Amino acid sequence: MTVSDNAFRDDVLAGLSAPIRAVPARWLYDRRGSELFERITQLPEYYPTRTETALLTAIVGEVAAIVGAGEAVVEFGSGSSAKTPILLDAVAPSAYVPIDISGDFLRLSAAGLKRQFPTLPILPVEADFMRPIVLPEQVRGAHKLGFFPGSTIGNMVARTAVDLLRAMKDTLGSGSWLLIGMDRIKDVATLIAAYDDSEGVTAEFNLNLLHRINRELDGTIDISAFRHRAIWRDSHARIEMHLEAVRDTSFTVAGRAFAMRAGETIHTENSHKYGHRDARLLLLAAGWGVVREWTDPDDKFAILLAEAEAPRFAP
Ligand code: TRP
Repeated sequence: MTVSDNAFRDDVLAGLSAPIRAVPARWLYDRRGSELFERITQLPEYYPTRTETALLTAIVGEVAAIVGAGEAVVEFGSGSSAKTPILLDAVAPSAYVPIDISGDFLRLSAAGLKRQFPTLPILPVEADFMRPIVLPEQVRGAHKLGFFPGSTIGNMVARTAVDLLRAMKDTLGSGSWLLIGMDRIKDVATLIAAYDDSEGVTAEFNLNLLHRINRELDGTIDISAFRHRAIWRDSHARIEMHLEAVRDTSFTVAGRAFAMRAGETIHTENSHKYGHRDARLLLLAAGWGVVREWTDPDDKFAILLAEAEAPRFAP
């Protein structure tokens, strides 16, 4: 058994034993989960990817005019780097540093970008961006532009989001820029549909966690006893994904016994949404001052350009 198997087992056992059951969202992304997630981003109901990509295309010229040429672009959680060429094309960077926890994914997309940008130094870093990161030697002295699209910041609770944004500021250094995507608060029907699509792909993505537990942790979960739920939690301005027991059910995981009543849930993901002022305040709380904000015509999604603020006296 590898270290990561233990981490998965520990998280699942602790999460299923907690008074409010929850499993960390990163365990949704095994190979099958990552494939399903790619399909989610192409669903008609899932507006964020499409909206952000179009918005980014429309504004990169303005971003380039503000930040100037020669930035080292550092992308956090680069994944398939699908939106990256749009940015790299516009800002004439001196280097590109993709950071991702999945080494395979990272090398594959780095190779693809290499063909598209043959003269650009591409310096992948395999790391968990939630931890402090050491950037490659070649970009240490360079001025940096952080890139954090996809509203991934929304998958963290505010406290964790601020910790991460602070850590990014430390990693990128004083005077650096951050270009970040955040999904907006909007009508509940649109939000729910984006996380509970008519084809059931998001449901399959969420339920895949139970398949993974059965497969990797010797589980006996009856998957037909669960259904996918997407809930708008207005008090926290977030969509929550849950797996809800549709009847009383009991099972074992790694030899430990669990029982759930009909209606009880396992919380598997949050997706926080940010209004105009919320977004600014979140960034300010971590030492980032917003320089520009762009949204699509329907104000569905925002991209913000922020600058690392120098420490100063405050009354
Ligand atoms: N960060 C995006 C969002 O919250 C992508 C995402 C993460 C997502 N987990 C998801 C989308 C689960 C759908 C379902 O929207």
